[in-house]
Amino acid sequence: MTQACSPGAIISVSRPSLPTADKLMPWLQRMDAAQIYANNGPLCRLFADGLAQLYGAPDGVVRPVVSGTAGLTVALLAQGVVPGGLCMLPSWTFVATGHAARGAGLIPWLVDVDEDSGMLTPHMAEAFLLEAPGPVAAVMPVAPFGAPFPYEAWEAFHQRTGIPVVIDAAAAFDTVRPCSVPAVVSLHATKLFGVGEGGFVTCTQPELMRKIECAGNFGFYGSRIATVPACNGKMSELHAAVGLAGLAEWQARRQTLATLCGSLATALSGVPHVHLQPGWGRDWISATCVVRLSVCTATVEDVLAEAGVETRRWWGDGLHAQPAFAQCPHTALTVGERLAGSTLGLPCHLDLTPMDIERVATALRHGVQAGK
Ligand SMILES: Cc1ncc(COP(=O)(O)O)c(C=O)c1O
Repeated sequence: MTQACSPGAIISVSRPSLPTADKLMPWLQRMDAAQIYANNGPLCRLFADGLAQLYGAPDGVVRPVVSGTAGLTVALLAQGVVPGGLCMLPSWTFVATGHAARGAGLIPWLVDVDEDSGMLTPHMAEAFLLEAPGPVAAVMPVAPFGAPFPYEAWEAFHQRTGIPVVIDAAAAFDTVRPCSVPAVVSLHATKLFGVGEGGFVTCTQPELMRKIECAGNFGFYGSRIATVPACNGKMSELHAAVGLAGLAEWQARRQTLATLCGSLATALSGVPHVHLQPGWGRDWISATCVVRLSVCTATVEDVLAEAGVETRRWWGDGLHAQPAFAQCPHTALTVGERLAGSTLGLPCHLDLTPMDIERVATALRHGVQAGK
């Protein structure tokens, strides 16, 4: 339900909304009747099939997991990565990418990204391999804030190098494309399609999907013998119920979200020195409105805060600036640092009214003026 914000009220940067309790009830009643609550139960399997259908893929290409972070770890473990090896990943990402690599026994090796796309590209990854400070066990590129991603190019990278690849597509519910390399989407409440805490792994290789199932279920496959290093990454039936209720209303919800993102994009595209992600709000959507600024970001933040407009630096200053990753080996991170200093998350949620959007655009205009 849309709540109008009064003119002086704080405009939140994010306001998650999930299917309401009445929409969950039929699914919860099915769960009650089956008395199955976990272990890839009937709701989880239905949810997986529904997601596969949404992406126009056959059954079996989607595996729901307990979180996006767990899904990344599971997808690494499933590829038999050698513990103690390096996991090449961009420093310009959310901390979860690095934690997931550690969860699979790997050392995050933080590398720089491409200036235009904000991504680690396959071309860059191949060049970095020549300067690796140790054996590279895996590469984990990231689709920044859900942007369209070159899935085929990473399939080709994997074929060329033989190095396991896992794509962190956490925010890419709208743009992910199942391919032969595993990609992981987060279904956290703040994402486009939320179940609370959750996620899914998608991959079109049946043998690898079998290993993903095994790596996310204690290493069990058809018996109670732990065959390989693994974890418990399974989604519960409760979360699958939320997912099924979400799928039932997805088409209508996507339409509403697309209208909102389109209105935001239109309002902000006229503000000088503010650059939206290419195609955002027109060709694709996400739950965050992330812009790059070519003026002083801190000043813009201050002016927006003064005007009651909340903002967030979703990825902080990048992984290398976080204490947990400060000791990790890294390349020069010039571009990532520049992006960290110029990227800002603006309000984006269904409670925004046309008046709120106008307030955000006006405050941004003032902020840019002050930050020049
Ligand atoms: C880039 C990135 N990777 C991974 C994750 C982890 O997802 P989750 O919160 O579902 O564990 C996030 C979550 O926001 C993310 O932004």
